[in-house]
Amino acid sequence: MKKYKIAVIPGDGIGNEVTAEGVKVLDTFAALKGDIHFDYEYFPWGCEYYLKTGNMMDPNGLKILKDFDAILLGAVGYPSVPDHISLHGLLLKIRQGFNQSVNLRPIKLLPGAPCPLKDKRPEDIDFIVVRENVEGEYAGVGGVRFADRPEEIALQTAVFTRKNTEKIMEYAFQLARKRNKYKKVTNVTKSNALNYSMVFWDKIFTEQAENYRDIITETHHVDAVTMYFLQKPETYDVLVASNLFGDIITDLGAALQGGLGFAASGNLNLEKEYPSMFEPVHGSAPDLAGKQVANPIAMIWTVKMLLDHLLEDCDTERITEAITEILLEGKTLTPDLKGTAKTHEVGDAVCERLKRLLG
Ligand code: NAD
Ligand code: IPM
Ligand code: MN
Repeated sequence: MKKYKIAVIPGDGIGNEVTAEGVKVLDTFAALKGDIHFDYEYFPWGCEYYLKTGNMMDPNGLKILKDFDAILLGAVGYPSVPDHISLHGLLLKIRQGFNQSVNLRPIKLLPGAPCPLKDKRPEDIDFIVVRENVEGEYAGVGGVRFADRPEEIALQTAVFTRKNTEKIMEYAFQLARKRNKYKKVTNVTKSNALNYSMVFWDKIFTEQAENYRDIITETHHVDAVTMYFLQKPETYDVLVASNLFGDIITDLGAALQGGLGFAASGNLNLEKEYPSMFEPVHGSAPDLAGKQVANPIAMIWTVKMLLDHLLEDCDTERITEAITEILLEGKTLTPDLKGTAKTHEVGDAVCERLKRLLG
């Protein structure tokens, strides 16, 4: 029996509701496999914790999380707490504190999921974004001077280190080698305007490409990428993007695969020195919170990514199949998919299908 310790941080808003469904699927999967077991420890960190304690997480939070095998996070953000406080106090703190330098975000249209592009089929939308996850504009370097005076000035400095940039480019090339598609990496840049950071980024991309001559490469400016996502998504395989660009293009990617209710992600510490963290791409959706109407598929897909990270050669594709069956059947769908099912009913339906597929 292999045992794994999972830290669960449901967070705020719909984070709580979708996390419950993710854990349900994890437990069902483990029970069906028989030889794996997950021990969970729940942490009540988030905006309500902040309003009570003045901190988004325990001040020793990173120390507490360090020895877990993985972290499962719901979402962070609450209307009465400024977003930069809540996100820098929890989500970004973990990404950066645990050097989770790659944020892996698959964009894949499942059969039965609604694609806003009418002439595109599931086989046309199947690519993955390797988002740099600890540097760039998110490095937290900057400041405000002359506050509230006419001279007031704000600086937010983007940071790009050779070591980290090389590492994530290398990861992207290796991923393209493993994937069964075009063996292609698209470099997402903006070096026409950003004459230091993105010129440096492109230079490292070109250097790394030399080590992967079997991989096709192309470089697209990020503004053009947003257009090509709509016009020719089928031409993409692996994209490598800086932190901010990766953030923006993956919400657009989410739309291509049916909405934020489908977008999953893994924040990976490549050195395995610290735990990696898995979370849906969406936020706490205050407009939906507490109503059991959020789509849990993004979280369930996220759990699949967590399993792929922890286990080798496991039947996790069955989870995707279970989701696909539900989409094609069309009876147990949340309101974003024009259904009337509750969040927990979708989780139950996925577990029921899993039992049939794996039982
Ligand atoms: P959001 O992702 O919470 O919501 C954007 C839109 O998508 C909303 O209309 C919402 O109803 C819909 N949506 C999101 N998830 C859904 C789901 N599972 N099923 C159905 N519909 C879904 O983004 P936002 O509104 O920009 O931000 C809300 C809060 O969440 C803010 O505080 C923001 O900072 C935070 N946020 C957190 C994360 C995170 O924790 N990873 C990510 C993004 C935003
Ligand atoms: C995401 C989110 C976060 C990000 C925010 C909430 C800080 O948008 O995970 O995509 O920008 O990385
Ligand atoms: Mn985002």
